[in-house]
Amino acid sequence: SQRKFFVGGNWKMNNLKKDNEKLIDLINNANINYDQTEVLVSPPALYLDFVRQKINPQVHVAAQNCYKVEKGAFTGDISPAMIKDCGGDFVILGHSERRNVFGESDQLIGEKVKHALESGLNVLPCIGEKLEEREAGKTEEVVFRQMKHIADNIKDWAKVVIAYEPVWAIGTGKTASPQQAQDVHAQLRKWLASNVSQAVADSTRILYGGSVTAANAKELATQPDIDGFLVGGASLKPEIVDIINARA
Ligand code: G3H
Repeated sequence: SQRKFFVGGNWKMNNLKKDNEKLIDLINNANINYDQTEVLVSPPALYLDFVRQKINPQVHVAAQNCYKVEKGAFTGDISPAMIKDCGGDFVILGHSERRNVFGESDQLIGEKVKHALESGLNVLPCIGEKLEEREAGKTEEVVFRQMKHIADNIKDWAKVVIAYEPVWAIGTGKTASPQQAQDVHAQLRKWLASNVSQAVADSTRILYGGSVTAANAKELATQPDIDGFLVGGASLKPEIVDIINARA
């Protein structure tokens, strides 16, 4: 495929400085072909600067969230300008935990995508259905709706990497089967072709997330529409290197 393989580690709200240092050493010392695979790490925002300064400059550093304006009276939040100022070049937006634990709406996530892109960040928007939605046969309806709120706010698709993360697979040890994931990825690509353009459908990376491990990454990575992974739990362990190298 013309799409470069992409693996992101979403560290979520885990680890202190000393643990981050170990993960940084792990990645810096690993055998990774950066011409073949793009790598991203996403520490808690407090550690963006620290991680950026220590990790291999070829690794993208992402915030896990941000707000939709540059500055102001928004206690507790951070802006894309601040992420860039700390050396971050990406932001994850609309992660299922932001949607479901913190109650973020499709509308808000769309606004965040817009502002982050206008600020010059790359964005990694996440979408995915809950178990009850899948069981009710609503997977496509849900991910298309989420996609639309995101896509309506994107002009430059070169700065966007999408993550499909079925909520029932996140942190549960229940990975989507390669076929289940491939089916949704193919539908999303079709949606992009009809609603944005064929060129964007062909060039945009769609990552899979949800209980990816070194043991299941290789088979998932063989699927034609899976262009990489967004990894939670396993990104805190040495096996992240094997996931990064799943297609190597
Ligand atoms: O952003 C990553 C996803 O939420 C996946 O998390 O690999 O722990 O299931 P997980």
